[in-house]
Amino acid sequence: MAKYNFQLNGRPATAESWDPAQPLLYILRNQLSLTGPKFGCGLGQCGACTVLVDGKAVRSCVTPVSQVAQHSVTTIEGLGSPEKPDAVQAAFIAEQAAQCGYCTNGMVMTAKALLARTPKPNVEQVKAGLAGNLCRCGTHTRILSAVMRASGPKKG
Ligand code: FES
Ligand code: FES
Repeated sequence: MAKYNFQLNGRPATAESWDPAQPLLYILRNQLSLTGPKFGCGLGQCGACTVLVDGKAVRSCVTPVSQVAQHSVTTIEGLGSPEKPDAVQAAFIAEQAAQCGYCTNGMVMTAKALLARTPKPNVEQVKAGLAGNLCRCGTHTRILSAVMRASGPKKG
């Protein structure tokens, strides 16, 4: 069985798989017990499984485990804790930006990548950045508010 070494939430991790094309999502959830990334569509179309690879948001359901070898993977478990949430998590809590919460982790991870590239986005940029993440509960307005809040106070 092949082994794939990578950084996971800042620590070395090893995945084992017979299949180099096995989705990273399955490895994270079933082998490494990180259930933050969710299985939604399994087709790269909903964003529920989003994680960061070298800081970029990727869909772990369509990312082969072999592709992350020697790279850095961050899941929502690597951001903050319930006691000390990171800025995006804290903003989602403050805005109560979840109903069922199934999309939330993917939204947070996508927002992290968005804010890393565009620290002070306007609403249109947030909408465009999150356009590929689906929320079936219709929490979009609160999610937008949360990402705007996470970007900090506006100048002027
Ligand atoms: S589960 Fe990966 S994009 Fe939907
Ligand atoms: S809060 Fe339920 S899918 Fe978004």
